[in-house]
Amino acid sequence: MNPIAEELNEIILEANPHIHEMLSIKGKNLYFPRGILSQGAEAKEKAFKYNATIGIATENGVPMHLPSIMSYITLSPADSLNYAPSFGKPELRKRWKEMMLAKNPSLAGKQISLPVVTNAITHGLSVTAEMWLDENDVILLPDKIWGNYTLVFTVLHGVKIEHYPLFSSQGGFNLSAFEKALKAQAGQTEKLALILNFPNNPTGYTPTEAEGKGIAEIILNTAEKGSNVVVILDDAYFGLFYDEHIMRESLFASLAGAHPRVMAIKLDAATKEIYVWGLRVGFITYGTACKGNADEAYGALEKKTAGAVRGTVSNSPHLSQSIVLGALNSETYGAEKEEKYQVMLKRAERLRAVLSNEKYRDAWDVYPFNSGYFMCLRLKDVDAEELRVHLLDKYGVGAISLGSTDLRVAFSCVEEGDIQELFDLIHQGVQDLQGAPGW
Ligand SMILES: Cc1ncc(COP(=O)(O)O)c(C=O)c1O
Repeated sequence: MNPIAEELNEIILEANPHIHEMLSIKGKNLYFPRGILSQGAEAKEKAFKYNATIGIATENGVPMHLPSIMSYITLSPADSLNYAPSFGKPELRKRWKEMMLAKNPSLAGKQISLPVVTNAITHGLSVTAEMWLDENDVILLPDKIWGNYTLVFTVLHGVKIEHYPLFSSQGGFNLSAFEKALKAQAGQTEKLALILNFPNNPTGYTPTEAEGKGIAEIILNTAEKGSNVVVILDDAYFGLFYDEHIMRESLFASLAGAHPRVMAIKLDAATKEIYVWGLRVGFITYGTACKGNADEAYGALEKKTAGAVRGTVSNSPHLSQSIVLGALNSETYGAEKEEKYQVMLKRAERLRAVLSNEKYRDAWDVYPFNSGYFMCLRLKDVDAEELRVHLLDKYGVGAISLGSTDLRVAFSCVEEGDIQELFDLIHQGVQDLQGAPGW
């Protein structure tokens, strides 16, 4: 093992041996190489004549650049074309953390890491898999998930996914199925891993405050009984809440530091939260319980994480990070964000009103939704994929079929005034298929 990795492992072991146990083999081996960084830093300080350490091209003291490139960019070449650190731009990491604390007041007084910047959440999931999961480990997920988890965890990392039903028969989060799944898994392995994604893709569900408390309690009880639990919070759609009594804070806030056997990993991003999907800026933040100097332990975890970033994408786009940082620091950011939230809220409200119409009753049930970008229909007696193709071919309406019964509608990309017609067309599509020969 590389001596730097050994040093980092020692720090983690000292702070919390359970966290060290939870790291994957790769996670234990990961480190952030010192060579280039420290030599570069030393040269920056002392190389008064020529500094030939920087791995970019420079001219007249700034990153070399083509005017045709810079004609699209108002930021300086140093803030846009130069590499960002593998950890991410320091000011952005600090600002994101400050905002996380403001959005999750229960984090007050808790020690959490500085966020490490990733190429948005998808990359954050991959880095998390590298750090915490070995091949054939099991990860627990509900039965309604974002399909890309399968590519990231199963195909690319050889992790097995096991499901529990997301909803109870009463229509809320299925706490008893969740508890049962954790118990069953705890009986088989020392380390449990799970992803909690709220607002959920594809259903648009966020648990109520009471359900959120229940979820945290079940996790903490499992840890108390001796299992190590890696909890990944995929907070991609954080903040888009459309109901009064649902959780307004990430479960990260309840789990961070709550038990030494719980490693809470918050994955969030500018991607959906501030509508910059293609900029690819996301974050990984750790929250656990540490003895002594938590900053040192988090520093070790951040270095391993940045090592995983360096070994995959090297660093996330500097231009994107500078744009996001500029926006977060802008005086109008809060008002702009609120304005877009109101647009989404109105769509969700309209959707609810439209879907309450009795005329749809024979065609589908609606899975509970109260947040995020999506909602999902459970079709009663037509096949979801057949309906999807039919809607596309006959009405030019696109939706996503999931399995044989579920149709996901992204109301995030349908104007409020079009929602009635959209669902009328879907309804018409169902009726066409019901009336088709063979039905
Ligand atoms: C639940 C969930 N997590 C993560 C992502 C990906 O986010 P990003 O674009 O930040 O990689 C998506 C959708 O694209 C998603 O629905």
